[in-house]
Amino acid sequence: MVPLKSPAELENIRKAVIARRDPNKPCIAVCSGTGCRALAGQEVALAFVQGIKLHGLETKVDLKRTGCHGFCEKGPLVVIYPEGITYVQVQPSDVPEILRETIIGKQVVHGLLYTDPVTGETVVHESEIPFYRNQLRLVFGNNSEIDPKSIEDYIALGGYSALVKALFEMTPKQVVEEVKKANLRGRGGGGFPAGRKWEECRNATDEVKYVIVNADEGDPGAYMDRSLLEGNPHSVLEGLIIGAYAIGSHLGYVYVRQEYPLAVENVAVAIKQAVEYGFLGQNILGSGFAFNVEVHRGAGAFVSGESTALMAAIEGRVGEPSPKYIHTAIRGIFNKPSNLNNVETWANIPLIITKGAGWYISIGTERSKGTKIFSLVGKVNNTGLVEVPMGITLREIIYNIGGGIPGGKKFKAVQTGGPSGGCIPEQLIDTPVDFDELTEVGSMMGSGGMVVMDEDTCMVDTARYFVSFLCYESCGKCVPCREGLRQMLNILNNICLGKGRDGDIELLEEISATMKEASLCALGRTAPNPVLSTIRYFRDEYEAHIKDKCCPAKVCRELISYCILPDKCQACMICVRNCPADAIIGGEGLIPVIDQQKCTKCGTCLEVCPPRFDAVIKLSAEPAPRLVAS
Ligand SMILES: Cc1cc2nc3c(=O)[nH]c(=O)nc-3n(C[C@H](O)[C@H](O)[C@H](O)COP(=O)(O)O)c2cc1C
Ligand code: FES
Repeated sequence: MVPLKSPAELENIRKAVIARRDPNKPCIAVCSGTGCRALAGQEVALAFVQGIKLHGLETKVDLKRTGCHGFCEKGPLVVIYPEGITYVQVQPSDVPEILRETIIGKQVVHGLLYTDPVTGETVVHESEIPFYRNQLRLVFGNNSEIDPKSIEDYIALGGYSALVKALFEMTPKQVVEEVKKANLRGRGGGGFPAGRKWEECRNATDEVKYVIVNADEGDPGAYMDRSLLEGNPHSVLEGLIIGAYAIGSHLGYVYVRQEYPLAVENVAVAIKQAVEYGFLGQNILGSGFAFNVEVHRGAGAFVSGESTALMAAIEGRVGEPSPKYIHTAIRGIFNKPSNLNNVETWANIPLIITKGAGWYISIGTERSKGTKIFSLVGKVNNTGLVEVPMGITLREIIYNIGGGIPGGKKFKAVQTGGPSGGCIPEQLIDTPVDFDELTEVGSMMGSGGMVVMDEDTCMVDTARYFVSFLCYESCGKCVPCREGLRQMLNILNNICLGKGRDGDIELLEEISATMKEASLCALGRTAPNPVLSTIRYFRDEYEAHIKDKCCPAKVCRELISYCILPDKCQACMICVRNCPADAIIGGEGLIPVIDQQKCTKCGTCLEVCPPRFDAVIKLSAEPAPRLVAS
């Protein structure tokens, strides 16, 4: 491929690609995102390859391995275009039927369609599935139509036309102004306005400047950036090249964690293709602008996602934060002006340039514009990646998109913002998704983690989980963060063990205040959020643990016990046989009794007791009913 030398040559290529494609030719899109791969998505794709060959359909049907579609819960997903027929939880053994019925016979295989758990009705098209219907998939939507290893797929959907517009119709300053007007706020956690950062970096006087994609994504359970980079790497690259042009940078980095091998692979392929097509290199599309990109693989420490730590790692030093007396936009990599943005922030840029800031600010709330991708996980029916307009309420996300709480349980709280975010209780479920609103209720937008919790979740244990994550991930460089987290973890451990003391809550608040004030980086400054938000909304649970030695959610092992109800037990012996600690005393025809000294609180007895007997219960700080064998 000879690099393209003008926008006209790109348009010719686009026309040729579109002309080569018959819009009515069936295309089988098999999700090859990481979630679907884990569920045999690759084997499904292979079965299609073999089946297509077997039926001699090679010229009659296309097969595409795409990135993540978002509804990983129901993977592996297969979408048949042009109709958009969507099959869920497809296994290799289903492939012959899909080929026979849908591709050859033009019939829908009803058994593979999504069934709405509320109405019981099957849904044929992806766009009609409630999970998708209530989203606005501007940044993520193309994932299901693109083979991430095909630059032609990206070009066919209008890819790189935003770059052409920026390079040939706008000055670098105008690009910065457009991004400022769009009020695009950083999607990596802080929500800092991207345009203002770009302007600061652009105005810095150094000749050498860098632009960087932050794909470190270390929040537990979050995989938005991963799926975007795996599924549509050219959208991120195009945003980066536009940013480089606006700022005046000629070298960029994609900092991606080593644990994301598919993202590393796909972005490397995308860079190679972009060079071949002339979107990267010395004289991009004949504009005279030169820019190259390198991939830097991170070692996967959570703290390395912090801007100064990440830049230290790119320089070859240990990825630990440093004091930020001067913004990295002025003094970053090798002390040169360096503009760092998150994967999703960069992927928004082509949209803003193509459709204009006026269009962009029509979506969202007054101070939070556009959409946000969330990784919706935890106690919710439909887990996966969801992209929603800013301003949508948490209730709409959890119930209309997520399908509510499994097993008829009650919603208790939702944790947003990753490990440094906070827990938002039921009474605030109508809070709109907006940078400032979430901060006001004691949480934050963060990079998009959203963990739903039901009535069986202990909020003290939840705070302990996040503090323990941060304690192990803290680099230990500054005292407030290193010692503060350690002490908070000790206190929370004691509370969960039933060793909590009067004054513990106040001590947690005091340590939190010091950490917020005096920590070196935002890890320490935001680390108290899970503790403070759970104390703010669930103080009674802390008090129950400390004063009554009771865990109301019956989670903390040291504060619970299991008990067999003699009047319900049918002496079937299932619990006796399954107890891994031999802690249940019983015999033929005898009602068994749990030896509390031996019991490890694993809960096996509760799990195996047949639901029709329902004879095992969990207790916390309550007197046990009759415990003597009859
Ligand atoms: C401990 C810590 C970890 C972070 N991890 C990430 C990350 O994985 N990805 C990310 O984009 N930003 C992360 N950030 C935020 C970055 O420091 C920085 O603000 C962001 O990359 C800027 O891009 P944005 O303005 O587009 O959000 C982290 C910050 C801290 C304090
Ligand atoms: S990986 Fe297939 S839907 Fe997410």
